[in-house]
Amino acid sequence: MAILPILHYPDPRLRRACVAVERFDGRLHELIESMVETMYEAPGVGLAAPQVGEAIRLLVYDPNPDPEARAARVVINPEIVLREGSVVGEEGCLSVPQFYGDVARAERIVVRFQDRDGTVHEEEYLDLTARILQHEIDHLDGVVFIDRMSALKRDILKRKIRKAAKAGDYTLTA
Ligand code: NI
Repeated sequence: MAILPILHYPDPRLRRACVAVERFDGRLHELIESMVETMYEAPGVGLAAPQVGEAIRLLVYDPNPDPEARAARVVINPEIVLREGSVVGEEGCLSVPQFYGDVARAERIVVRFQDRDGTVHEEEYLDLTARILQHEIDHLDGVVFIDRMSALKRDILKRKIRKAAKAGDYTLTA
């Protein structure tokens, strides 16, 4: 287990389309454990493999920030098979530290995915958990939440990030 460095937007490695996980072996389990540790350390409610430089379809999440009630979940090769409703909410991202923006997401989704051993599950997610899942699955397709903001708000945010980077208040990883 290790704390892994998190890539920051606009690192081009966040733009790669990730490939399916095919081997559910010890190496994968080690990466999962490190990602969970990295997520809690950050702290964040979700982390996708491309954020730590691994271009594979794997994410971890835990919507409960209470350290006493930790229950990290692992989602591999996810596919959203149903989307319902639309709700706007504020999002942040460990790859865009200190910046937040409103994004519209489906209110309810059903996701088919594999667990750490490769077993297939289908689960329903609502509200915050649905938002986390959609945000993290986007990462697997090279999409960052900024891309889903309105054009105007996105431009303002990008300008703020550039300014912060110039001032040394935002760390670039590439
Ligand atoms: Ni993110």
